[in-house]
Amino acid sequence: MTEAVLLVGGQGTRLRPLTVNTPKPMLPVAGVPFTVHQITRARDAGVRKIVLATSYRAEVFAEFIEDVDLGIEIVIATEDEPLGTGGAIRHALAHLESGPDDPVLIFNGDVLSGLDISGLVASHVETGSDVTLYLTPVEDPRAYGLVPIDGDGRVQAFLEKPSTPEEIVTDLINAGCYVFKRSVIEQIPSGRVVSVERETFPALLTSGAQVRGVVDSSYWLDLGTPLAFVQGSRDLVLGHAPSPAVLAPGAALVLDGAQIAESARIDGGSSIGRNAVIAPDAHVSGSVVFDHAVIGAGARVAGSIVGAGARIGEGCELHGVVVGDGASIGARNELRDGARVWPGIELSATSIRYSSDA
Ligand code: GDD
Ligand code: MG
Repeated sequence: MTEAVLLVGGQGTRLRPLTVNTPKPMLPVAGVPFTVHQITRARDAGVRKIVLATSYRAEVFAEFIEDVDLGIEIVIATEDEPLGTGGAIRHALAHLESGPDDPVLIFNGDVLSGLDISGLVASHVETGSDVTLYLTPVEDPRAYGLVPIDGDGRVQAFLEKPSTPEEIVTDLINAGCYVFKRSVIEQIPSGRVVSVERETFPALLTSGAQVRGVVDSSYWLDLGTPLAFVQGSRDLVLGHAPSPAVLAPGAALVLDGAQIAESARIDGGSSIGRNAVIAPDAHVSGSVVFDHAVIGAGARVAGSIVGAGARIGEGCELHGVVVGDGASIGARNELRDGARVWPGIELSATSIRYSSDA
């Protein structure tokens, strides 16, 4: 039996204001909280018990696991104060039942991937490694942890969020999943903040521990930013990203109780939440519309996220924006490229048309 720890305690700062009320892994993606995609993938790879390492808004996870049966044992470990990624792993240890040499899987809670999870564990066990890291190549590695390896897969360094061009020594990044020998987790100091990336991995390398990287180039995405969040949702709905929780991939996902006018268009992998309303002639493409949101007549919403209960007035144009829960955008407003509207904000209607048909 393999056990796993899912790190879900971060504040999701880059996804504000969506994460003001809901922690990032609990945001709905393709019809279910994002964390369900990860948990069901782990379950299908043979993981039997998963510890949710929570901190920020831990109560939202507790409520969720009370009502749900995903065919896997789920327990919650809540830090009183956020302990960082390494501190969270150490804190979750109390809930693990495995022996000292057994493999323990660790997942970052915001990564969507096609990783061969059981293959990673098998490689870890076969090579007798202390830690095995899932690595993936990316075009621009600067926002991640860089992990150069030698020809045998031995990790040479761990460079978290490099700040100088000299540090860009590889395009292989830490893809947010590790296998630890349980006894190695025991060596992480307890009761204080520890970054697994900045402290634990460099210290293991210095001490000569066997740390290996396994490169897997299948689908990979960190959903930490609004653009990535929309892309991940789109890729799941369209079936481009693998998840056992997406039963019928297609051009759009419309959840129960949503009312879509006959003349409205929903496409590009959009997902429309429960009891949302899409008025006549509106066009929603490649977007995520949360529960109870309303998209007014003739509005155009592309590559955007519309929070729960938000109202988008008629004729609005939204391209690549985030509208917080319960916000209200008056008729004919145009918002573009990274604009964020905070929950509950009301923008008045405008009669000025900015778009080309003005
Ligand atoms: N329980 C707990 N406590 N979880 C935490 C804490 C904490 O104090 N801090 C962060 N986490 C969780 C977050 O919820 C997230 O799931 C995960 O740890 C990683 O944090 P992010 O904030 O998403 O980090 P990142 O995306 O900047 O970088 C990390 O992921 C990259 C891959 O996506 C690093 O691990 C990089 O090295 C890596 O390349
Ligand atoms: Mg992240």
